[in-house]
Formats: sequence, C-alpha cells, structure tokens
Amino acid sequence: MSVISNDLAMMLARAPVEAAIAAARFIGRGDERAADQAAVDAMRAALNAMPIRGRVVIGEGERDDAPMLYVGEEVGAGKGPELDIALDPLEGTTLTAKAKANALAVMAIAPKGGLLHAPDTYMDKIAIGPGYPPDLIDLDEGAADTVRKLAKAKGVAPEEIGVCVLDRPRHGGIIEALRGVGARVQLIDDGDIAGVINCTKPETGIDLYLGQGGAPEGVLAAAALKCVGGQFQGRLVIRNEQERMRAEAAGIEDLKRRYALDDLVSKDAIFIAVGVTSGSLLRGVRFDSGTIRTNAVVMNSATHTVTELHIRQPA
Ligand code: FBP
Repeated sequence: MSVISNDLAMMLARAPVEAAIAAARFIGRGDERAADQAAVDAMRAALNAMPIRGRVVIGEGERDDAPMLYVGEEVGAGKGPELDIALDPLEGTTLTAKAKANALAVMAIAPKGGLLHAPDTYMDKIAIGPGYPPDLIDLDEGAADTVRKLAKAKGVAPEEIGVCVLDRPRHGGIIEALRGVGARVQLIDDGDIAGVINCTKPETGIDLYLGQGGAPEGVLAAAALKCVGGQFQGRLVIRNEQERMRAEAAGIEDLKRRYALDDLVSKDAIFIAVGVTSGSLLRGVRFDSGTIRTNAVVMNSATHTVTELHIRQPA
C-alpha cells in the first residue's frame, strides 16, 4: 500500500485516544512511571485489536529494556495492511505528573519502510512552518544568522521572530545568541513535538524551533510537518559508545548525517496527537458526569487533510 486512507487513520486514532485517557487518570499525581505505563498498556491493547499488521519502529525502547511496545514488536490483529508505527504513548511524562500544559499521546504511521528507525539518543533539530522558500533553514548555520534569514524571508525585523527552545542548560549558548539578535525566546519545560508543531500555528507566535531533544520525537514531529507543511532538519547526537551501538543497531550507517524531513519520513504518513493535558495544540482529557471527552488531531500527508476530533464517550 502506498498511502493510508483517512478511514484507516480514524480507526488508528483510537490507540492514542485510549493512551491519553489512561494517562490522564494520573495527571498531577507526581508519578511519571505510572502515567507512562498506563498509556503504554492502553495503546498496546488498542493496537492489538486492530485489523493491521503493524511493526513498532519507534517505541518504548529496545526489546530487553521495554517489555511492551518495544522497537520491532509486531502489533495488530495479524491481518490487514503492513504498517510502520512510531509511537510515544505519553509525550510529556513530567508534564502529566505535574499537571502542566501540552502532554500528548502521539503516533505516526506510514506504509512499511516509510519512517526512519531513530535510536533512543538526542537529536539536534531545527524546524520552521510552511510558506517559506525551500531549503531556507540550515542546521549548521548559527542561531543568530538563522533568525536574520527567517526575518528577511518573512518580511519582519528579527525582534518579531519567536523561537521555541527546550529550557535546558545545554541550550545556554543558543538562547544567548537568539536574544542577542533580538528574537523572542519561548522556553518550554518539555514536549518538543508540540514545540515543533507550534511553528506551523501563527497564533502561538513561534516561527522557529531550535535545539536538542529526543531523536524519536524528531521523527514524530517531522511526520506532522510532512502533513501540514514546513521544513525540518535533524542530526543524531551520539555522546558515548552505548549510544553509538544503539544507533548502529537501528541500522544507522552515517552517524553524522544531516537528515532532511523526507529522509526521516520517506513515504506518505499519518500523524495523530491526542491531548492529555490542555495546551497550545489540543484540549486535555476531561472526565465529567459519566462521560470522557478527548480532543485529537489526525493529519494525513497523502490527502493534506487535518481533521480535529472532539470525542465524547461513556466513562
Ligand atoms: P518524556 O515524555 O519521555 O518525558 O519526554 C519529554 C521530552 O521533553 C521530549 O519532548 C524531548 O524530546 C525530550 O524529553 C528532551 O529530553 P531531556 O528532558 O533529556 O532534555
């Protein structure tokens, strides 16, 4: 199969919806692991009930470390289309434990071979939204030059450019360079998939995403941009021998390769996110008087459709 239909995408959305509901029961309870485990269990059970032959290409870790939804695990009821699945049942474990904004349940799906098998390492990332000339961004250009170039392309002053960066000590140099050129820096505690997607939403005031986050999250964010437009580049950050082995085990040959969006997501893909806590993308799960309400977005790069779902189901 070369593309995934919207009907199949809507069915697949059930898996992150179930994960979000399960994780939401742990919002604000200070227990990251329990929230994550609940999301994993729920997503796995939902996937295994579906008429697909899925293979987890980005999941909860290697088979030995992760009992469920490990990389290489076959999911689905064993009949139906062969799919590669990248998943993060709970993106923002700490956000959930602390009841902070922007925790999501996330999945990207492509026909077999369509998603890079990113190892569990960091990735240097740069992203912008749609509407710019092709190849505008360059991961190897300095942060200040990138802002100047982006401002020129947008027809505004650098002071008008908003940049999202994970609030980490490792980003001190980037943040200084961004502020030095006059850009507005939005520091986020966690959740760089939402950080990247925010570049595509003018109402967030974010034009550019910069910095180092998880490589798996990089592929998931790239899948979203493949659907809604935008540019993304990433490069694995290999810090030690263990990470080098992980990358090699994932089949990565050139550890220094700079990946463009289409290298990360090489076939038409589906991106699905469901809000766990409310945030800039989606509302979180709400439990009220016998019903559970969830808010999801389903993006399809083949049909260029973005479908927002407001689901109400009995508790
Ligand atoms: P978890 O949901 O696994 O906690 O990941 C959240 C996250 O903020 C990602 O969005 C991001 O890519 C990564 O962690 C950054 O890693 P670190 O917290 O080590 O800087």
